[in-house]
Amino acid sequence: MHALEIKKDIFWVGCVDFDHRDFHGYSTSPDGTTYNAYVIKDEKNVLFDTVSPGFGKTLLCRMAKVMDPEKIDYIVCNHMELDHAGSLAEIVARTKPEKIFVSQTGLKSMAGYYPDTGWPIVPVKSGDKISIGSRTIVFQETRMLHWPDSMVSYIPEDKLLIANDIFGQNIASTVRFVDEYKNADDYDRRVKEYFYNIVLPYSKIVLTALPVVEKLDIEMIAPDHGLIHRGKKAVTDIIARYRTMAEQKPQKKALIFFDTMWHSTEHMAYAVGSGFEEAGVPIRIMSVKNNHHSAIMTELADCGAVVAGSPTHNNTILPLVAAQLTYMKGLKPLNRIGGAFGSYGWSGESAKQIHEALLSMHMEMPVEPVRCMWRPTKDDLKRCHEMGKKLAEALIAKL
Ligand SMILES: Cc1cc2nc3c(=O)[nH]c(=O)nc-3n(C[C@H](O)[C@H](O)[C@H](O)COP(=O)(O)O)c2cc1C
Ligand SMILES: [Fe+2]
Ligand SMILES: [Fe+2]
Repeated sequence: MHALEIKKDIFWVGCVDFDHRDFHGYSTSPDGTTYNAYVIKDEKNVLFDTVSPGFGKTLLCRMAKVMDPEKIDYIVCNHMELDHAGSLAEIVARTKPEKIFVSQTGLKSMAGYYPDTGWPIVPVKSGDKISIGSRTIVFQETRMLHWPDSMVSYIPEDKLLIANDIFGQNIASTVRFVDEYKNADDYDRRVKEYFYNIVLPYSKIVLTALPVVEKLDIEMIAPDHGLIHRGKKAVTDIIARYRTMAEQKPQKKALIFFDTMWHSTEHMAYAVGSGFEEAGVPIRIMSVKNNHHSAIMTELADCGAVVAGSPTHNNTILPLVAAQLTYMKGLKPLNRIGGAFGSYGWSGESAKQIHEALLSMHMEMPVEPVRCMWRPTKDDLKRCHEMGKKLAEALIAKL
């Protein structure tokens, strides 16, 4: 086990969780994740963030490669979510810091998770600076990116931004830097996965925060999950990706998700897809049984249209489609075209209910829901195909 020096006297001392799959209980992390933490050696030695519960000893062992943990003077808690603060009690007990810095709003989450500790907690706000010897730490609150308490720490002398959850990805690897990671497609997917499942509801705040970040002279962005962005080019690249994802401009691709009991709605899904394809819009069809709701959400990053299908089941939609719609609504996607379809036997409420759900996400719904009774006939499939084609045309008109 080693601590990696990422800049002179600045070390990555985090943990790689190769086997992690259930990220925070709502998203998957198909290839694991990391909990990054950083140590700066200076007149005052500083630890930035800690790690998930159960990883405290690994963090301490890695820190011990740099210095005796008791030599830590300050701990900066950029964010109190437990993947970064869940081992705080263990680390505080071992390091006995002189001060623990949190944002103003972090005081509340600190009190919520660690009440009555008597720890030397110091609240900071945007623009506050502390000198640690040859370096300065400048704090910048990033409220609701993605918790009220979230903040980032900037070290101007090293042109380094310790960015907490912002700019992170769930990647578990031996390499620490984006430029060392040889799988560009996987990296792209993991950036989107993280943003679309965690940051998306705060897209407007991202667009306000990015110019603040761009004003800083940054050569390295060190997030608390996944790989570090090293060099001006990498920094510009991740900022540009964030801008694109937050702007949510229409993308020429359609996401079709569905559930089915006896495959009728599934046939409809493929017919809708063929309509999109005929109009020149690529598709991704995803069964909610075979794809986790977070994977479907990740796919939405590339899709300007969303079409959802469910058979009618006991006068409503199947539960996994309902779950997908609920999850998607909470993440507040913007600027999408939507459509709904489903097979039924007698009352046939499902397609209409999906239509309403997508409308409640402020999607443009240019086509009435398409329903078919029992198994779709040739004519029903033609109507589905036409629906796909019309939605594709509406999407192309927006591009
Ligand atoms: C347990 C069960 C409950 C159902 N409830 C309804 C219902 O409330 N209203 C309705 O119109 N059809 C209902 N159906 C009929 C299905 O919607 C119909 O079989 C449909 O074609 C199934 O589509 P699928 O092949 O995509 O599963 C129900 C079917 C099952 C098996
Ligand atoms: Fe978080
Ligand atoms: Fe996190």
